[in-house]
Amino acid sequence: MAETGKKAADENAAVDATPNVSEVHVTDASTTAEVEAVLDAPVERGEPILQVRNLVKHFPLTQGILFKKQVGAVKAVDGVSFDLYQGETLGIVGESGCGKSTVAKLLMTLERATAGEVFYKGQDITKLSGRALKAVRRNIQMVFQDPYTSLNPRMTVGDIIGEPFEIHPEAAPKGDRRKRVRELLDVVGLNPEYINRYPHQFSGGQRQRIGIARGLALNPEIIICDEPVSALDVSVQAQVVNLMEKLQDEFNLSYIFIAHDLSIVRHISDRVGVMYLGKMAEIGTDTEIYDHPTHPYTQALLSAVPVPDPDAREGRERIILTGDVPSPANPPSGCRFRTRCWKAQDKCAEEVPLLAVPEVFAGKTIPAAHESACHFAEEKQVVGAA
Ligand SMILES: Nc1ncnc2c1ncn2[C@@H]1O[C@H](COP(=O)(O)OP(=O)(O)OP(=O)(O)O)[C@@H](O)[C@H]1O
Ligand code: SF4
Ligand SMILES: [Mg+2]
Repeated sequence: MAETGKKAADENAAVDATPNVSEVHVTDASTTAEVEAVLDAPVERGEPILQVRNLVKHFPLTQGILFKKQVGAVKAVDGVSFDLYQGETLGIVGESGCGKSTVAKLLMTLERATAGEVFYKGQDITKLSGRALKAVRRNIQMVFQDPYTSLNPRMTVGDIIGEPFEIHPEAAPKGDRRKRVRELLDVVGLNPEYINRYPHQFSGGQRQRIGIARGLALNPEIIICDEPVSALDVSVQAQVVNLMEKLQDEFNLSYIFIAHDLSIVRHISDRVGVMYLGKMAEIGTDTEIYDHPTHPYTQALLSAVPVPDPDAREGRERIILTGDVPSPANPPSGCRFRTRCWKAQDKCAEEVPLLAVPEVFAGKTIPAAHESACHFAEEKQVVGAA
């Protein structure tokens, strides 16, 4: 865990009613060279490095074969805002289809946002193109879920890890690349002599190490990890997570860590955001979210986590959610969680709850005073992931 990032996040959370998003200082750079200089400048530990504001991604739904007509949209991400602080790990959790991977792709500029901004060092990367966008892509890398399909089976490990140098030749001169790849193999705990082997000659855990080495090749500042250990055996998951923590300290990295497994997310994250149907339901430090959740959805998610301690298990309340997750093409009015929420009232159908410190906790310096998008937020004792 990145202590400095965590401290900064804790301090940030301790200030009453301070939104989890900080003020954006848009950097004043107009020429491409100026923008590149801004993007390459270091950020102080604990300062915001990425500031996401009202991010929206709607995928059009079309009908017709020859003349395609838009008949609606899948609202995969629908107004998401958060900060990522330098040196921290921000975990993102939520049920399948809630928009986690779409957020990751938007941050990577693999998808174009429908609306909203993503400020990286004060530059809105959703508006960049050409060389400036290339500089952003060098600094924000991704580690994917499935090490079995994300590595090209016909390429050697050396070629896979060195591939980013083809797009960013400035990161390693041609003659140095093999040496650099060997170093990267060593950094992720693989024998540099394996450089000429193919992906099928490695285990799942080793393949994910190859994926991480490729993610590190360009010396990025941010790594977005989309379910990086979900496809691995439980015994191997811990090794990969430990490696990622070690690399974070060594290379001063900031992580966004997307996963289903709430225990792993708690282990690695300084702060955690809980998504539901394209929106952020609750966000706070790991202690705030796991030990003092105030949003019914988070409480339900946590109550479903298996608890090894029989005493703790006996005393806890298990919240069973009824109903399916509504379609993101036609989300419920007001609070999107209302069709499954046991506390829903008329107001929940009429008003969209904003992600903010709930009024009942405003001005209090207690862990429950963190951002939660619920009209009737309150603490509920659920035994969360250890
Ligand atoms: N290219 C696309 N075109 C249309 N709809 C899409 C596209 N990509 C994602 N979606 C839809 O957007 C919603 C969010 O998908 P996303 O992959 O971001 O969810 P997720 O939270 O990552 O889910 P999972 O946990 O299963 O990986 C889903 O309803 C999905 O079907
Ligand atoms: S706003 Fe209403 S429906 Fe939504 S989580 Fe809170 S109580 Fe439930
Ligand atoms: Mg996903």
